[in-house]
Amino acid sequence: TSIGSIAAGFFFAFFVVMCCLTVCSGTPDPSQREVMIRQEVSRQTGGSVQLTGAEQRLDWHLNKLKKQEIAAEQFLPATHFFKARPLIQKSPIFSLLQKMPKGAALHIHSSSLVSVDWLVKNITYRPNCYICFTWGRSLRFLFSSRHPFPSWDCPYWRLLKTLRGNMPDPTDFDHSLMRNLTLFTEDPDTAYPSQDAVWEKFETAFLAISGLVTYAPVFRDFLYKGLEQLLHDNIMYLEVRTGLSRTYELDGSIHDKSWSLRTYQEVTRQFVAEHPDFLGVRLIISVHRALSVSEVKAAVKEAIQMQKDFPEIVAGFDLVGREDRGRPLWFFKDALSLPAELGIKLPYFFHAGETDLEGTEVDENILDALLFNTQRIGHGYALTHHPLAKELSKKGNVAVEVCPISNQVLKLVSDLRNHPAAVLMSEGHPMVVSSDDPSLFGTTGLSYDFYEMFVGIGGLRANLGTLKELAINSLRYSSLPPQLKERGLSMWQRTWDKFIAENS
Ligand SMILES: *[C@@H]1O[C@H](CO)[C@@H](O)[C@H](O)[C@H]1NC(C)=O
Ligand SMILES: *[C@@H]1O[C@H](CO)[C@@H](O)[C@H](O)[C@H]1NC(C)=O
Ligand SMILES: [Zn+2]
Repeated sequence: TSIGSIAAGFFFAFFVVMCCLTVCSGTPDPSQREVMIRQEVSRQTGGSVQLTGAEQRLDWHLNKLKKQEIAAEQFLPATHFFKARPLIQKSPIFSLLQKMPKGAALHIHSSSLVSVDWLVKNITYRPNCYICFTWGRSLRFLFSSRHPFPSWDCPYWRLLKTLRGNMPDPTDFDHSLMRNLTLFTEDPDTAYPSQDAVWEKFETAFLAISGLVTYAPVFRDFLYKGLEQLLHDNIMYLEVRTGLSRTYELDGSIHDKSWSLRTYQEVTRQFVAEHPDFLGVRLIISVHRALSVSEVKAAVKEAIQMQKDFPEIVAGFDLVGREDRGRPLWFFKDALSLPAELGIKLPYFFHAGETDLEGTEVDENILDALLFNTQRIGHGYALTHHPLAKELSKKGNVAVEVCPISNQVLKLVSDLRNHPAAVLMSEGHPMVVSSDDPSLFGTTGLSYDFYEMFVGIGGLRANLGTLKELAINSLRYSSLPPQLKERGLSMWQRTWDKFIAENS
C-alpha cells in the first residue's frame, strides 16, 4: 500500500469512528474494526517495515512457532531466565534468532564480555595464576612471577595449579570457580531473595573477574575472544562500556590507560582484518557513580583527552553501578557540564532509569540524562513513568537500550510480558536490544535477549518487521560516523538477505 492509501485509510477510520460515536447503534462495522487493528499494529516497532515475499514466508513461519510457544504449558519469558535457558536453547525460534544478523551490541560491559567457561577453562589454567579467599569468602586472582604478598583482604595466596592438583575432583572445582564468576545458578529464587542480594553477588563477581582479565597478556586474548563470541552470534559491531582499568604484568608493573586504549585499537584492527564481516568496536568510557564530584570531573577531563587521542575508538562517557544505591546524575552536574563549558563535545550514553523507585531522586536520572543531551538511554526501565522524557526521547531519536534478561535477573520484573518496553514497543519508540552483562547472566551475544524481546515483550504482534527494525536500529543509533554507519548498514543488508534466502 502507498502512503496515500494509508492516509486515506486513516481519514476513513477517523470519519467512521466519529460517526459511530454520534449516530451509529448496534454492531460496529467489522471492516472498521480491521482498519483500527491495522493502524494500531502499524505504530509498533517495525510496524511500517515492508516485507518482501521471502520475508513474509519466514514471518508466517515465525508466527506459527510463536503461537506454539504461547500455547505451551510453560511460557518461557514468564520464567526466570536461569530456569528457562535450557528450554530456550531447544526453541526453534531461538535457533533462528541465533542465525539472524542482529547488527550491533550497544550495551555490554567489558568485564562480562566473555563466557565464564572460557575464563575458567582457559585463563585460570595459565601458569603463575594465584588465588585467594577473602574474609567475605569471595575469590581474588593474581598472576605473578613470585608468591604475592598477603594483604588485608587476601591473607593467603595459593598457586592455583597446586590447589587444583590437590582437589579430589578438578572438574567440580572448576565449576565452583565458575559459580563465583557468574550470577547464573539453577535455583535463583533461593540464591537471590532480594535486589540487594543479587546486586551484592554481582559486584563480588566483578571483583573476582577483574584480577583475571586485567593481566595484560590475558586482556588481549580476552578482547579477541569476546569479539569471536559476538561474531559467532551474528553480531557485527560492539559499543562496550569500560572503566579502562590499568593492566598489570607478571613482575607487578602496571600499564597506563593509554596502553588499554591502544590494545583495544590493535585487537579490533586485527580482528577486523581477519573477519571482514565485523565492523569494529567503540568504547564508552565509564566510571562508577560512587565517585565524588571531583573524581568524576577528573574522569570527564581524562575522557576528553582520550577522545582526542583515540577518536576512532572512543565514543563517549557514562556512569555505571547500581543507580538505586548510587549518586544521581544531577549530583554530578558540575562535572558533567565541563565539556560544554570548554566548548568540547563529549557524547554521553547514560544509564538512566534502571530503577523501580518511582518518584525518588534517582528516578529523575532519565530527565537529567536528556538534559545533558544523552545520545541513548541505558535501560530506561522507568521511562514510561515520565511522559515528558518519553516525548523528548522519541522526538530526539534518543534510543532506549533495552536489556530484558538483565532487568529480570536483577529483579525489576519477573514476567517479561510486563516489562515497560512492551508499551514502548507498541508505540514504536526508538529502541535497541542488548545484553548488559552477558557472562554474569549465563549468556553470550544477544540471541537470548532477542528471544525475550521477540517472544515475551513483543508478544504475538512482534513480527519479522520488528526484528528487522531492531537490528537496523542498532546501527542507526550507534555512535558510528555517518560513512561507517552507511557501510555497516549495507554490510548488514547483505547478510540479512542471505539469512532470509536460507531460511524462508
Ligand atoms: C587459551 O586461549 C588462547 C587464545 O585464545 C589459545 O591460544 C590457547 O590455546 C588457549 N588455551 C587453553 C588451555 O585452552
Ligand atoms: C567459590 O569457589 C570456592 C572454591 O572452590 C567454593 O568453595 C565456593 O563454594 C564458590 N562459591 C560459590 C558461590 O559457588
Ligand atoms: Zn549496564
